[in-house]
Amino acid sequence: MFEKTSTRTRAAFEVAAFDQGAHVTYFDPSGSQMGHKESIADTARVLGRMYDALEYRGKNQSDIEDLALYAGVPVYNGLTDEWHPTQMLADFLTMHEASGKPYNALSYAFVGDLRFNMARSHIVMAALMGSDIRLAGPGHLAPPAEVVAVAEEIATKTGATITVTEDVEAAVNGVDFVHTDVWVSMGEPKDVWVPRVEELKEYQISADLMNATGNPAAKFMHCLPGFHDTNTVVGKDIMEHTNMPDGLEVTHEVFESDASIVFDQAENRLHTIKAVMVATLA
Ligand code: CP
Ligand code: NVA
Repeated sequence: MFEKTSTRTRAAFEVAAFDQGAHVTYFDPSGSQMGHKESIADTARVLGRMYDALEYRGKNQSDIEDLALYAGVPVYNGLTDEWHPTQMLADFLTMHEASGKPYNALSYAFVGDLRFNMARSHIVMAALMGSDIRLAGPGHLAPPAEVVAVAEEIATKTGATITVTEDVEAAVNGVDFVHTDVWVSMGEPKDVWVPRVEELKEYQISADLMNATGNPAAKFMHCLPGFHDTNTVVGKDIMEHTNMPDGLEVTHEVFESDASIVFDQAENRLHTIKAVMVATLA
């Protein structure tokens, strides 16, 4: 069920299901009664009697928690404003494959908007996996204190280290991976673009920033979709209006470089979502 749009998550769930002999129904944002003419609780109790599992992507974390409470079957979080857990599985598999390191030896930076689903999820995931994560962004786009507190509590047991800083060059020093996300997320109003670009432009992932890792083998990662050229309607509009000809959160040069493993990362959405289905349904 997709209240918000998707390419990778929808495709991964559908192909993962088909490859394993399951069948799917796709509900687009206007394709069911849920939330409009029927409550989440009532819809959940109906769908739970028909399906073996549900996937949901939407704005509110509380909506998917209501679905999970009432459906009586596994409910997979395909992204809310707060969390993007299936992306974390793909990101960690990709970092392990690319570096050969165990999860608790991974050292990586997440650069940009630290308030939204991707950064929040990486803070907690890195804590769970015992990794070294450095998050760099402007102070007013910092991660919520309660998320950092939860992660720091987990880190006391796993040995993870969590650093939040405005100093992007310090954050990337010595890391194996540099991650970013879009600067304006789904559901945010269009008029935040111009001020957001101003706030975040010094956090753009450029060749200079990749060099600042001091690690010639450092890799670039992005959950995608990403704005790195003018071949999208939104990207073209914002890049022209903000005078950012080389890209927004990442330059075209880095996105297309040998350091970029974004399409391995995207492919791993499929394999990890298959594993989630096996773990919960087999
Ligand atoms: N990374 C990700 O969740 O992509 P989609 O929005 O295309 O599903
Ligand atoms: N932060 C982004 C992630 C997209 C996969 C968004 O919510 O739009």
